[in-house]
Amino acid sequence: MKLFITALIGSFLLYQTASANPDTAQLVPRTWNGQKYGCKCYFGDQCWPDSRTWNALNTTVDGNLAVYVPPEAACHTFFNGTLGTISTYDQAKCDTVTANYSSEKWITDQDMLLLWRYWTNSTCLPTTESSSPCTLGYYGVYLLKATKIAHIKAGVDFARRNNIRLVVRNSGHDFVGRSTGWGALVINTHSFQDIKFVDKWDAPGGYSGGAVTIAAGVQGRPLLRQAVAQKPPVTVVTGECPTVGVAGGYVQGGGHGPLTTQLGFAADNALSFDVITADGEYVTANAKENPDLFWALKGGGPAAFAVVVSATFKTFPEMRSAGATLYINSTHVTNETLYWEGVRIFHSHANSFVDAGLYVYFTITPLTLRVRPWVAFNQTAAGLDAILAPFKADLTAAGIPFENTPAKEYTTFFDLYIDLFEDESGGTPMLTSGWMFSRQDIAANNDGIITAFKKAISPREDLVNKGYMVGHLWNAGYGVPVPNSATNPRFRDAANLILYNLPVPTNATLEQKADIEDLLANTLDRTMRATGPKGCAYINEADPLQENWQDHFWGPDVYPKLLETRKKWDPHGVFYAISTPGTEDWEVIEYGTRLCKKL
Ligand SMILES: Cc1cc2nc3c(=O)[nH]c(=O)nc-3n(C[C@H](O)[C@H](O)[C@H](O)COP(=O)(O)OP(=O)(O)OC[C@H]3O[C@@H](n4cnc5c(N)ncnc54)[C@H](O)[C@@H]3O)c2cc1C
Ligand SMILES: *[C@@H]1O[C@H](CO)[C@@H](O)[C@H](O)[C@H]1NC(C)=O
Ligand SMILES: *[C@@H]1O[C@H](CO)[C@@H](O)[C@H](O)[C@H]1NC(C)=O
Ligand SMILES: *[C@@H]1O[C@H](CO)[C@@H](O)[C@H](O)[C@H]1NC(C)=O
Ligand SMILES: *[C@@H]1O[C@H](CO)[C@@H](O)[C@H](O)[C@H]1NC(C)=O
Ligand SMILES: *[C@@H]1O[C@H](CO)[C@@H](O)[C@H](O)[C@H]1NC(C)=O
Ligand SMILES: *[C@@H]1O[C@H](CO)[C@@H](O)[C@H](O)[C@H]1NC(C)=O
Ligand SMILES: *[C@@H]1O[C@H](CO)[C@@H](O)[C@H](O)[C@H]1NC(C)=O
Ligand SMILES: *[C@@H]1O[C@H](CO)[C@@H](O)[C@H](O)[C@H]1NC(C)=O
Repeated sequence: MKLFITALIGSFLLYQTASANPDTAQLVPRTWNGQKYGCKCYFGDQCWPDSRTWNALNTTVDGNLAVYVPPEAACHTFFNGTLGTISTYDQAKCDTVTANYSSEKWITDQDMLLLWRYWTNSTCLPTTESSSPCTLGYYGVYLLKATKIAHIKAGVDFARRNNIRLVVRNSGHDFVGRSTGWGALVINTHSFQDIKFVDKWDAPGGYSGGAVTIAAGVQGRPLLRQAVAQKPPVTVVTGECPTVGVAGGYVQGGGHGPLTTQLGFAADNALSFDVITADGEYVTANAKENPDLFWALKGGGPAAFAVVVSATFKTFPEMRSAGATLYINSTHVTNETLYWEGVRIFHSHANSFVDAGLYVYFTITPLTLRVRPWVAFNQTAAGLDAILAPFKADLTAAGIPFENTPAKEYTTFFDLYIDLFEDESGGTPMLTSGWMFSRQDIAANNDGIITAFKKAISPREDLVNKGYMVGHLWNAGYGVPVPNSATNPRFRDAANLILYNLPVPTNATLEQKADIEDLLANTLDRTMRATGPKGCAYINEADPLQENWQDHFWGPDVYPKLLETRKKWDPHGVFYAISTPGTEDWEVIEYGTRLCKKL
């Protein structure tokens, strides 16, 4: 007890002396490349809390604070962590890690591991060479495995008062490394799994239909599984990917999925959020209480305005649905010209698919177009076959062989979801970007867009056939023509949100990484924008290093209001995620390590 009190007094004095505002610590001065910065506090800095202070936090969070050791360390003799070196070799654990290393479900259940590893720096990998090095890379130093709302609050307060970089890690799906950060305190929200349905939503906002309140850690598939079990069965807008969280980065970025053409973004369907603010307050944000924060949380950018503790979404009656698949790959065609003609024909029908209310998920890799699935919510198999007939007739007329299942009808959308959507494998060291092609651009310039796709697959002589694309045909303006969320209004004329990925070897040097980052931002991103000038980019699935990200992610009607909201709710930068509103002055310097504000 005595120690605890001393620690409290100690930390109180620390931030008393550190800053004019007793509750917000001062940034640490630093100069890099001739520029003056004020940085977050890191291990080795004088301001770094001593062990008593960390222990006090640990007590507040019921012992749920840990010094993070990556699971891969089990394959290595030593883990050379920020706080010291420890012996870590454990053959059995190493075997488990190695066997599950690309399992989406296993990865999301880990404390800090990310599905897309580029931004972790890949400095501790499963191996049979136990003497190879294992260091932390860009993972956080401390892990706070929150199980209560008070733990999240304690983490936010601690980070704010001690000027520590704060990161929230939910499912670890982030493509651009936003759920990790060098030297950070990472709050893991995976334990928050409550789900509660109501038949009639009884709160402000002028909506009185069905709703579901979910805790921060709930993932798509379990939510849909419980939704369909309601009487009568209902459904919710979630991602196509079964393990993406719903209330975390997904809805805060907008959140699209198989029902988006019919029902809009997840953000369009959010009714209320309970959050911990940067000041450590537990508040509700909805149409009546804190409406500016409510609006910003609906697509204004992940980890930018508050930590979401729970969120409420509209539910919709489950409906009979139809699905279909189609493949064109080297089993069917080996002539590249013919293959790309197949892709061109497919994409020339994108507008007709979304205009018929469909959602389509597909991948393009060298000599493989895999369309799995077409989703026709609230439509029959015969209806879907009729929509697809002109497209298939065009393929046949062009002499392009393909493999296709006739449309299949399902009693519910959930049955289709389980049958046709698959877990994806994690661990890919890739750089990701994406662009939304509007209906107008596809109507005007489909051939130009296909030329851009070819470039994304083979962007340079040394990268021929190295690209990998994932497309989603949907139009968020089909069922919800006017945005009610902080999403880019251009999405209301969307037809294809397509991701383009480039591999980066895990052992790449800093120079090699900079080269690929440059290729993506300054060649591919620009090519996509030039061929689809009426499109925009989706913050969760785009290159954070692109120029004019404010315009591409939100546009001139939305961004200024988001900036204002950020300044109001997080004036001191307690939260940070790259290329989110108000981060213009913030930069991660010194080769991906220190988070600092330009002075
Ligand atoms: C395989 C795969 C498939 C995908 N499919 C889709 C899709 O169909 N539709 C779609 O829209 N997107 C999709 N995404 C992108 C997805 O929306 C983003 O990766 C999103 O950031 C995931 O959010 P998360 O909370 O689950 O993940 P995390 O990586 O844990 O977190 C992502 C970001 O959100 C922040 N965050 C997490 N929880 C909270 C919280 N409670 N409060 C405040 N901030 C929080 C984190 O700090 C981080 O900045 C996919 C991604 C992958 C890898
Ligand atoms: C926090 O407390 C728990 C339980 O006492 C302990 O196991 C853990 O090691 C502590 N964490 C730190 C960082 O000291
Ligand atoms: C991890 O791998 C082992 C061995 O292959 C397997 O038995 C186990 O089920 C996997 N665990 C998870 C959570 O996937
Ligand atoms: C890690 O620490 C061990 C033990 O001190 C040392 O032998 C090894 O060289 C260190 N490795 C790295 C990568 O720093
Ligand atoms: C990150 O990786 C690069 C190699 O690409 C390496 O030079 C650098 O030291 C690493 N940084 C950290 C913090 O792991
Ligand atoms: C082509 O697609 C079919 C259908 O999925 C699959 O059975 C076949 O293995 C694929 N061929 C190649 C070469 O990928
Ligand atoms: C590939 O197909 C195109 C278009 O049909 C044709 O012009 C070309 O000759 C074919 N190439 C080969 C090598 O068969
Ligand atoms: C389903 O389709 C019918 C007929 O087209 C329409 O009236 C109804 O509103 C649709 N329901 C949903 C939930 O989309
Ligand atoms: C990375 O590994 C590959 C394959 O082992 C090797 O060819 C390449 O030279 C390595 N690159 C660097 C920068 O070490």
